[in-house]
Amino acid sequence: MRELLIIILILSMAIWGSSFQPREAFPSYASSVSVIQFGAVGDGETDDSQAFLKAWKSICGSKSNAPPLLVPAGKTFLLNPVSFQGPCKSSSINVQIQGNIVAPHSSAWDGHDKKKWLLFSNVNGLTVNGNGKIDGKGASWWSNKQHQRPTALSFGSCNNLVFRGLMHVDSPGNHISVYGCNDVSISNLKIIAPESSPNTDGIDITHSSNVQIRDCTIATGDDCVAIGTDTSNIAVTGVICGPGHGISIGSLGANGGTSIVEDVHVRDCTFKGTKNGARIKTWQGGSGHARRISFERIKLESSDNPIIIDQYYCGPNDECKNQTSAVKVSDVSYIGFQGTSSTEEAVQLSCSESVGCTDIKINDIDITHSDSGKDTRASCINAHGELYGRLVPSVDCLLP
Ligand SMILES: *[C@@H]1O[C@H](CO)[C@@H](O)[C@H](O)[C@H]1NC(C)=O
Repeated sequence: MRELLIIILILSMAIWGSSFQPREAFPSYASSVSVIQFGAVGDGETDDSQAFLKAWKSICGSKSNAPPLLVPAGKTFLLNPVSFQGPCKSSSINVQIQGNIVAPHSSAWDGHDKKKWLLFSNVNGLTVNGNGKIDGKGASWWSNKQHQRPTALSFGSCNNLVFRGLMHVDSPGNHISVYGCNDVSISNLKIIAPESSPNTDGIDITHSSNVQIRDCTIATGDDCVAIGTDTSNIAVTGVICGPGHGISIGSLGANGGTSIVEDVHVRDCTFKGTKNGARIKTWQGGSGHARRISFERIKLESSDNPIIIDQYYCGPNDECKNQTSAVKVSDVSYIGFQGTSSTEEAVQLSCSESVGCTDIKINDIDITHSDSGKDTRASCINAHGELYGRLVPSVDCLLP
């Protein structure tokens, strides 16, 4: 009886003590653990990177049923570049971001790798969600002619990834990059950076398959969504894009490289004041293919180049010599486009002279000029396919 009392006493002290000290192991009753328990301060000035890493090591190392890791609301955590690495022991890992996470000023990056700010890598079954905000503090980078501006948040080699709910602002470079991941669901994000901010893509996907992007609002200085090399089974639905450079497949085949992109389906998206709408861009001299692609039920509000295939893409500082090899573009459908273009050339299908695009299908498009005195038109280079339904502009340059 006395032993039992002592045991109860020790147990209750341990439980009482646990709420005051960082712990490496969790009592089974813990429903979530907070970065605060690992020493994070959250005053927006203290570097909380080490506390976040300790918290990560702890949940990533817990054997089964790792408790969710909480970044609590009402606080701002300053993080230097940090990498949250797996593999983790638990088959599912949940990070709930309710508070704000901010990057240091660009001048504080000396000595750090400038490619990435926050990285999750090699974590299977990762869910990152919450109402929090990730602020890349990009303004101090954009003004300089930096060669490299970090991506705010990257996911590398994460299978079964769920990422939803967060707000992203002002990344120095791309906001979110996903590479080497299979089975990914990204939804309900809000991504905002100024229209003039350079290379601030919203979401970039490369080397990944089975990716869904749903119900996001994206306003940036570059592509809202970019689907890059070696991707397949990508569905983008309910994205509101603008300002920005549209939803792009590419750029593919840079530096003579081979790119394969297959089964990309973009549906129920809106472009508002974007530089492009539905874009496929490939470099001269590349190889591989982009095929089985569709853009369906697209709304346009004063967008430049609503439908564009550009096989003559080249960067601002590159030579743009025409070459004979190109990424082959085929089986691309544009179905149900409606709204206004701010350029007369609403449809531009500029395919490689040597390779050409085949099986392009255009069905029911009604794209008028946002300036009511002007008409829209289509232009084509070596584009082949079929037309269906009502077409404004008529795309009579499309070859059989
Ligand atoms: C490349 O080919 C396209 C299509 O024929 C043409 O419009 C463009 O002027 C050419 N560019 C160069 C640099 O020769």
